[in-house]
Amino acid sequence: MNEARERWTSRSSFIIASVGAAIGLGNVWRFPYICYENGGGAFLIPYFIALLTAGIPLMILEYGLGRKMQAGAPTAFAMVRKGAEWVGWLSLMVVMLIFLYYPVIMAWCVDYVTYAFNLGWGADARTFFERDFLQLSGGPGALAGIRWPIVIGLAVVWLAIYLCLFKGLKALSKIVFYTVIIPWVILVIMVIRGLTLPGAIEGLKFYLTPNFSVLLNPRVWLAAYGQIFFTLSLAMGTMIVYSSYLPRKSDIANNSFIVSLANCGTSFFAGFAVFSILGYLAQAMGVGVPEVTKSGFGLAFITYPTAIRLLPFIPAFFGILFFLLLLTLGIDSAFSQIEPFVAGFTDKWKFNRKRVLPLVCILGFLIGIVFTTRGGYYWLDIVDYFANTFGLTMVGLLECIVIGYIYKASKMREYVNDVSEFSIGKWWDICIKIITPVILGISFILSIVTLIRKGYGGYPAWATIIGVVITIGIVVMSFVLMSLRGKTMKMEASETD
Ligand code: PHE
Repeated sequence: MNEARERWTSRSSFIIASVGAAIGLGNVWRFPYICYENGGGAFLIPYFIALLTAGIPLMILEYGLGRKMQAGAPTAFAMVRKGAEWVGWLSLMVVMLIFLYYPVIMAWCVDYVTYAFNLGWGADARTFFERDFLQLSGGPGALAGIRWPIVIGLAVVWLAIYLCLFKGLKALSKIVFYTVIIPWVILVIMVIRGLTLPGAIEGLKFYLTPNFSVLLNPRVWLAAYGQIFFTLSLAMGTMIVYSSYLPRKSDIANNSFIVSLANCGTSFFAGFAVFSILGYLAQAMGVGVPEVTKSGFGLAFITYPTAIRLLPFIPAFFGILFFLLLLTLGIDSAFSQIEPFVAGFTDKWKFNRKRVLPLVCILGFLIGIVFTTRGGYYWLDIVDYFANTFGLTMVGLLECIVIGYIYKASKMREYVNDVSEFSIGKWWDICIKIITPVILGISFILSIVTLIRKGYGGYPAWATIIGVVITIGIVVMSFVLMSLRGKTMKMEASETD
């Protein structure tokens, strides 16, 4: 065991950091929206099944791998088999795509906090968002210049990420308490505010009433599995590197259950804040709840601000609170995307973390500027789609194959059971070897078929082709990174632990 490796100061800081990594922007606007679109209450059934058959098993896998190999994703996979190292790099390439755009969405939140003081989005939040704030160009072909307010927001976000990470794990162990507790407090306030509004019940009915016929639709199941992967931050190297900082004799199985359930519980809870206010908005506008909810991003930056402006009592306060909620939710997810990336390089080449971190932050900021242009929104959408639809599924599938078949699921299970507070049964092997890879495989093939038939998002074909090129590019890049020679790795660590 590598004693020089940094450690979490306690088990609770590990759990809280993982929960913070998992809970992010995805919980507050993506989950409620996807839930609504896929049958409301009925969606909770596939969601829960996805959590049990893929989410928790993969969480156990990633924690087990990181904890055992004491290394970030590439080195950990290299210890299973030399040739598997690229799976680790691929996960870091996917998370890199995500950390290029995720802070940009947070930058919008920074700007919106300032607009909230005087409810600057006015009566027509959509026009404000698209025409005044993003100043959308005609399409992805026209970047049409930088939007400076977004660049400033982006600089603030990257600076915050850097400051959270630069002191290392000891400081991080403390910071994560705040970045998890603060958004939870705000969330509770928002839920109370929402539930006490007229019309809230209609919103909740809409959120919770099941429509069982959707269970026959495979799209709903894929949406549930996709959301579970994104929300639990799986297949991104995050959970592997976080567990590699666990001290000797730490539990794995129980921690996996705690983190996964805390995350999904938060999503469910956040649904109450969002849908109660949507019910209120529907009543105020005199329409049904289905007519007020719009697209994914629209929920946070269009629909929600519209509702906030109509609040009877100190709306600006709740506006500020809502965007602070998104920011505090996002920040620990954002730095959990940088950490695995930095660790991948420092593990393999023994680079000095103090040098790599600022470099990654500066490059992340500079490349992120593309998404702050007037056409940047389209690129954000495209990169988000390719990273999540193809990158994530590829990595998840490969993880299952490498651990399930090459390392052997039973061997990993025995290891996990040795160190955990309770034992996991053979069901775990079945999830890792069969259920998760089959679902991811089907999802991958269906997504390719849809892409070929319809392209993506109505963008011109060349934009889709660039997306494909980026996806192929990260696969090639992972092979390149694997083939570069690293500084001596302690292969024996895996066996002596
Ligand atoms: N799980 C986070 C969310 O729901 C996003 C995330 C992705 C975090 C990748 C870390 C790594 O917003």
